[in-house]
Parts: sequence; structure tokens; C-alpha cells
Amino acid sequence: MKALKLALLGSLVAMPGAAFADELNLICSADVVICEKLVNEFEASHSDIDVNMIRLSSGEAYAKVRAEARNPQTDLWWGGTGDPHLQAGQDGLSAQYKSPMLDQLQDWAKGQAEVSDYHTVGVYSGALGWGYNKEIFEKKGIEPPKCWADLLDPALKGEIQIADPNSSGTAYTALATLVQLMGEDEAFDFLKKMHANVSQYTKSGSAPVKAAARGETGLGIVFQHDAVSQAVAGFPVGVVAPCEGTGYEIGSMSLIEGAQNPEAAKTFYDWVLTAEVQSLMPEAGSFQIPSNANATPPKEAPDLSTIKLIDYDFAEYGNADRRKALLARWDEEVGSLPIQ
Ligand code: G6P
Repeated sequence: MKALKLALLGSLVAMPGAAFADELNLICSADVVICEKLVNEFEASHSDIDVNMIRLSSGEAYAKVRAEARNPQTDLWWGGTGDPHLQAGQDGLSAQYKSPMLDQLQDWAKGQAEVSDYHTVGVYSGALGWGYNKEIFEKKGIEPPKCWADLLDPALKGEIQIADPNSSGTAYTALATLVQLMGEDEAFDFLKKMHANVSQYTKSGSAPVKAAARGETGLGIVFQHDAVSQAVAGFPVGVVAPCEGTGYEIGSMSLIEGAQNPEAAKTFYDWVLTAEVQSLMPEAGSFQIPSNANATPPKEAPDLSTIKLIDYDFAEYGNADRRKALLARWDEEVGSLPIQ
């Protein structure tokens, strides 16, 4: 297919005034397997558009879009948690766009568009929790933690991994969730205590449960659907929805302000919001709840109606100043602590 496109491009070069095939520079902030699947499906159905995709965690993606503000190299940013997408909207880094697909979306996905004045939109959702390695817990003879409070148990020393909230939207969701559940000072106190049990703050949000699946750590704090992916792949992973309640993400998508390929970006944007495309996600081991109301939710997806969800305040925790301040406090009080 690439060879055909190159041949076509070659013949267009010889024709004065002819248009080149389009390019699309995409940042994808969900798991690399679903990122690659979407690109392959899109290129197969849109042979005139070549997609250049890179996978970056949500916070890293935001930093890249910000660094490129004067000369955008990115056209579209798909996936990753909603908070940095909201921040990008407020910073004027993403463009306003009302997709004709909006009417087909779940209320929470439309709400994400409304709260950002149409600078971003919801593409999937999923609740936070953790995945643990059943064999490690059995061998150690300890009960797997059911509640946030259980994560402070000294028996878990060195057994917890979570990502760094600067790079990872998953870890920022965890930080904002704890602040909303406990109050800010209490949440930082909790995180400082939990630090005694943490062996590593990873860059990517789902890495901790991949490590737990392979027996490198006992437990990873991640989105529950990322723990489900490991269990479905055959690893001995149990999935927990914390008893006190938990936060959730509205995975989002933003068109970049000043994009060099806005038409190709809008084509992908509308396509990826269709029920047909969203129904393909489980084929790539992605078990989020799709935002198109007509898409088939994966049967393996954690059932949000049975999970005690907090009323996550996306406007407050996606606010640029609030996010910046929480990350700075995390760096100072948690990130700076030595790993024991
Ligand atoms: C995983 C999840 C996604 C989530 C993403 C955030 O890929 O499956 O639902 O949006 O992590 O990634 P990050 O690395 O920013 O935490």
C-alpha cells in the first residue's frame, strides 16, 4: 500500500498544480497496541492519508504539544486521560471543533466537549483501581488490598508500582482522585506514607500492571481495564475497585491549533468517533467503555455501574493552574523522596 502511495506521489510530482496525498501527524496516548490498530485500520480505509504516529503518555504529549506551540508538528492527539487535554484547550494549544459525530456520543463524552468549549471530546472512559499478581500474594500469604487504606500496610513494602503523574495521566488521575476523596493535605500525607511501599514510579500509566503480570511487583495502580487486559492475556492478575470509591478518566481527543493537516485530522477525528471503529478496540486488548452510544462495550470491561465512583470534578482537576500546582507539590513532597 505504501509502495502504491509512493508511485502515486511520484506521478503527482510530475503534474504541475496536482495535490499531494495528505499526511497526518498523530500523537496516541493509549496503549501502543490500540494505537497501531487504529492507524492500520485508518490507512486501510483512507489510502490517500499517510499517518505518522508516536505513542506518548498523556503528560508527555501535553508537553510536546506545548513545546511546538509556535510551529505545530502534531495535527491530532488521540487518547490519554482528559485532564491534560483540558489544560491544552485552556492554553490555546488545541483548536475548537464540533464534529458531526457529537450527537452519537454518550453524555459524559459530550460533557467533556462542552466543558472545554469544544476544544476536546471524550473517546472512552474507565475507572481507576489496581491489578495484583495473585501468585505473589498467595505465596506471601497476604490478603490483596481492597481499599486505598490497605495500600499503607507495611507487608506491601516494595510491592507497589504507580506511574509518575508528570508523565502519566493515569497517575495524575490517581493523585486528583485521592485529593477529592480525602482532601489535599491528607492525600499528600497518604502518598508520602504509601511511598514506603513503592518500588518504582514508571513513565507510562499501564506499565505497573504489566510488571505485576510478569511477577516483577505485587501490585500496580492503574486503570482497571489495563488490569483486565493482563488477565485476558492469561496472566494471574486480579482486578480491584477500591472500597472507599475511585476516580475515572474520560480519555479524550484534541485537534491541534495551527495543525498543518487540519482536513486529514478532522477525517480521522470523525472516523474514530464512529461506533464501528470504537467497537474494534477489544481486538487490540483495549477494554475501555467506548464514547459512541451505539458502539458495543466490551463484555470484559469493568462495569462502571457496580463501581463506587466519585463525582470527579474534571473542570477543576483539568484546570491548568490546579494541575500545575498539584504536580509541583507532588514533585516537592513525594517525587523527591528516596526510594527505599
Ligand atoms: C492506558 C489506558 C488508557 C489511558 C492511558 C493513559 O493506555 O488504557 O485508558 O488513557 O493509559 O496513559 P498514561 O501513560 O498517560 O497514564
